[in-house]
Amino acid sequence: MRSLTEILTERISRGGPITVADYMAEALFHPRFGYYTTREPFGSAGDFTTAPEISQMFGELIGLWCAVTWAAMGRPARVVLAELGPGRGTLMSDLLRAAGTVPEFLAALDVWLVEASPRLAARQADTLKGRDVHWAERFEELPAGPLLLVANELFDALPVRQFEKRDGAWVERMVGVTEHGFEFVPGPDAEPDLPAHVLAAPDGAIAETCPAGQALAAALGARLAESGGAALIVDYGHARSAAGDTLQAVRRHRFHPVLEMPGLADLTAHVDFEALAAAARPARAWGPVPQGAFLAALGIETRAALLAQAGGPKVAADLAGQMRRLIDPGEMGTLFKALALTHPALPAPPGFLNP
Ligand SMILES: C[S@@+](CC[C@H](N)C(=O)[O-])C[C@H]1O[C@@H](n2cnc3c(N)ncnc32)[C@H](O)[C@@H]1O
Repeated sequence: MRSLTEILTERISRGGPITVADYMAEALFHPRFGYYTTREPFGSAGDFTTAPEISQMFGELIGLWCAVTWAAMGRPARVVLAELGPGRGTLMSDLLRAAGTVPEFLAALDVWLVEASPRLAARQADTLKGRDVHWAERFEELPAGPLLLVANELFDALPVRQFEKRDGAWVERMVGVTEHGFEFVPGPDAEPDLPAHVLAAPDGAIAETCPAGQALAAALGARLAESGGAALIVDYGHARSAAGDTLQAVRRHRFHPVLEMPGLADLTAHVDFEALAAAARPARAWGPVPQGAFLAALGIETRAALLAQAGGPKVAADLAGQMRRLIDPGEMGTLFKALALTHPALPAPPGFLNP
């Protein structure tokens, strides 16, 4: 059987170096050998763990966030609830269980999962067995009408282009092949779509854009402004646009060389929340706020205490550990951030009261 390394080596040898975005797209979503096409990477036996896989409290609190936002929308009798990149379906499962505490909200939901990997869509079907859920491969396929959308660690998986400042000008950073394997090589002159303070970075600087993320944010923003609703985006990244090489590979919970073993390691880049919020106009952006502050404002400590009361000392200790991982600044509390996008007429959503 051929490997993705062989396929990409042959492609680059024949056609020349490819962009970092092309490399990333192949590594993650090649139809036969892509990372998300071939595996289920979550949990201690996989490569990384995400917030909903750490604790049920994450999805539950987001479920209540959705219910409160639905009330602020004027309690529409029908609302599309969509999740982008739902992984194993854990967040949606916890969200819907929490939504059950507000029966009219649960009854109003038309639930959609937007997933590019058929393998993960099958896993989500398993997790959500018994729930009335639909799948789409692309955001644009969602049915019309008011929308509530959540996306946890989706935008970091969208391919980025990289640029390098050389002799006072920007060139695209490409992936070529040498006798040592894949290597970064300078490409053609470029005019990256970046703010002036990033473009002014000194020689040697690397900067990134995420065209797929920008396009998705633009489509989402237009839809929210036209049909009403709100989106909650949680991911790791920076609040303000800045130069920097944030491409990273992770395999078995450790950092891995980014150009080694494409398709066998997760490949992500930090989310530029400022660029994402700007692309989503005319929707209104709130935040980003650090994940720790966001979950604290939603009442994670109260939820943990309630669950602990019901579960006993061992459960209480587990919950305290989960909460620490989600909110401590040294863990996920600061690097991860929450951004809300809303119809311009909606009030501040829960957790974003002090923008
Ligand atoms: C890092 S995982 C996060 C999974 C889940 N949200 C969680 O928090 O556990 C990224 C997810 O996004 C999906 N994905 C990546 N790119 C996508 C795209 N362009 N459209 C839809 N889903 C995508 C992956 O298949 C996977 O389900």
